[in-house]
Amino acid sequence: MSQSLATVAYLGAAILFILSLGGLSNPETSRRGNLFGMIGMALAVLATVLGPRVGPSGIAWIVGALVVGGGIGLYAAKTVKMTQMPELVALMHSLVGLAACLVGYASYVDTSVQFQGVEKAIHEIEIYVGILIGAITFSGSLIAFGKLNGRIGGKPVLLPGRHWLNLAALLVVVWFGKQFLNAAEPGAGMTALVVMTVIALLFGVHMVMAIGGADMPVVVSMLNSYSGWAAAATGFMLSNDLLIVTGALVGSSGAILSYIMCQAMNRNFISVIAGGFGSGAPKKAASGDKASEPQGEVVPVSATETTEMLREAKSVIIVPGYGMAVAQAQHTVYEITKALREKGVNVRFAIHPVAGRMPGHMNVLLAEAKVPYDIVMEMDEINEEFPDADVAIVIGANDIVNPSAAEDPTSPIAGMPVLEVWKARHSIVMKRSMASGYAGVDNPLFYKENNRMLFGDAKKMLDEVLSALRA
Ligand code: TAP
Repeated sequence: MSQSLATVAYLGAAILFILSLGGLSNPETSRRGNLFGMIGMALAVLATVLGPRVGPSGIAWIVGALVVGGGIGLYAAKTVKMTQMPELVALMHSLVGLAACLVGYASYVDTSVQFQGVEKAIHEIEIYVGILIGAITFSGSLIAFGKLNGRIGGKPVLLPGRHWLNLAALLVVVWFGKQFLNAAEPGAGMTALVVMTVIALLFGVHMVMAIGGADMPVVVSMLNSYSGWAAAATGFMLSNDLLIVTGALVGSSGAILSYIMCQAMNRNFISVIAGGFGSGAPKKAASGDKASEPQGEVVPVSATETTEMLREAKSVIIVPGYGMAVAQAQHTVYEITKALREKGVNVRFAIHPVAGRMPGHMNVLLAEAKVPYDIVMEMDEINEEFPDADVAIVIGANDIVNPSAAEDPTSPIAGMPVLEVWKARHSIVMKRSMASGYAGVDNPLFYKENNRMLFGDAKKMLDEVLSALRA
């Protein structure tokens, strides 16, 4: 393939990636967005493999790598559970970081292209910055993977004087950067490069270890952004325009997503981006904390009583959360929705931006169950509708409906916008026990006078509700 044809293919791929991102911003267009992304990626890979820079011997290596990597990817995609997606994503980000480091070292030791003067300085800055971002992304993502799958505890590990440690690390990295650029002989900057890599790896570990469980979604999205910038840096090292554009797209969209998630969880974007500096890492509610004390009686109900309440309602709002994903109850939820709508009940879904364990988690599950998009509402659209709802039914959600976020300034989740289900005439919370949610905070909603608890596995309970509704 000629250089100009490869450039045209790269341009086409870049446009497809932009269309893909546009499509992914809405559940209705997300399938099309995915398709654009897949075609764009296929085009990019073909143009690279068949392009002028890969010789016949290179093709064999690339095809071999594609078969191995593609096989592992296919296996992971087929076996991973939806609730394990965030950890898989974190693991994949670590590979992007590792690739940026390896390409950086390869570019440095490659003597086939000799740069002089300003070009040499620019090339070396690309290598140094690329390895720096890559190493932080690599180790930070591995720690995020460990925290998300429970191999590493979710509690923030805060070293004494950690801000100073980070500042010292930054200064040392800058100093070694100067040594690296000043190295006269080819390869003489290797020591500086290795020292910087070790510091960057330690910084990545330190940064993510300092972040608490409830901040993890933001961290995964932030590492997504870092991995994009690492890919862009790799693009500069390899003079590959498509990698630069794609990396910048991933880097900036990851940063925008992190910002949106920070707002949804009331976290400070700048402090999270800077690696948890001064961020409100969640305090685990210690015994004796106001939030962890039982605040009254809870009123349990049966599936039959729940069905009666739903039958008498004119307006019902369903709030799905992580427990619905665990129980895989989305199909039964939709069957109940259809049955209620046939009886003339106005049923809508309320989606919190961080419900579940990844952005859009609930939307994906509801789309899979074929719930129509026009009854699936975002938090901002539906929150003012709760006072007019007869029943708000919470299915395996906890933190996202916790009134202490709005009512108790001392709560670890104070200020996080939540779905105000307690404002409905009745709320019913469906979960297996009184256990707290992801943030480890007790939920005063359970004790409210107008709240009822339907204890049990969401799928089992909903099956009972459905049979009672159909009887
Ligand atoms: P959570 O606060 O984690 O609550 C889920 C509840 O589901 C639990 O209290 C659990 O109670 C219940 N549950 C679990 N399995 C169940 C089953 N089989 N049947 C019925 N109930 C079940 O979830 P949420 O309200 O969706 O809030 C999300 C939380 O995760 C937030 O704190 C958020 O910050 C965090 N987070 C979000 C993301 C993204 S991007 N969405 C990523 C990582 C973390 P029982 O054990 O008593 O049943």
